[in-house]
Amino acid sequence: MDSNTINGFAQKTAPCAGLRIGDAAPDFTARSTTGDVRLSEYRGRWLVLFSHPADFTPVCTTEFVALAREADEFERRGCGLMALSVDSLFSHFAWLRMIRDRFDVEVRFPILEDPTLVIAMAYGMVRPEDHDSSAVRTTFFIDPEGKIRAMACYPANVGRSIPEMLRTLDALQAVDEGPVLAPANWLPGQNLLRQPTAKLDDVFAAKDQSDWFLREVKGRPRT
Ligand code: BEZ
Repeated sequence: MDSNTINGFAQKTAPCAGLRIGDAAPDFTARSTTGDVRLSEYRGRWLVLFSHPADFTPVCTTEFVALAREADEFERRGCGLMALSVDSLFSHFAWLRMIRDRFDVEVRFPILEDPTLVIAMAYGMVRPEDHDSSAVRTTFFIDPEGKIRAMACYPANVGRSIPEMLRTLDALQAVDEGPVLAPANWLPGQNLLRQPTAKLDDVFAAKDQSDWFLREVKGRPRT
């Protein structure tokens, strides 16, 4: 049995908070605003799984409005969105209705309910010793093989940047296309960096003292 599997599949598995980049994303099933979801059904496409502290809170509301408005941009990159909080499904529904009526945008990606915190614990979104059950703003970028490729964590009082979420996804997808690296502030269409050599001969043969480890290569054109 997969050791990174939680509820419904393997209650014997201890929560695996302390997940790191490269780990398999723990599988789970949960009720959501779009029906029952199973994480492993997202295999074959990218997924951004993220937690929010609570429904009907100001910062979270701005995040969901912004994400719903950019949902097509994630879709264009072959990436699903999946949110999670401790709130009940009916709380999620009421919140989405309020968001639709006030901000004229429908949140159509799934929002999971996690009343027992089993998923939040497994992903380290809450600490076992916490008395406050609200999850921090944790974001997991999960690749088509189900591996965690990047993570970000913000406190309850600071909202995420949706452009940075898209940029992270673009960078992860770009580096998967070749032996290249994405430099600071990289955006699609800009140059990437070549993987540095591991051979001393290449170091001595390079045209100057930095070209062997720091050289730009053409990025794919912006689509
Ligand atoms: C907010 O989303 O505004 C929020 C959530 C939890 C605690 C504080 C603020």
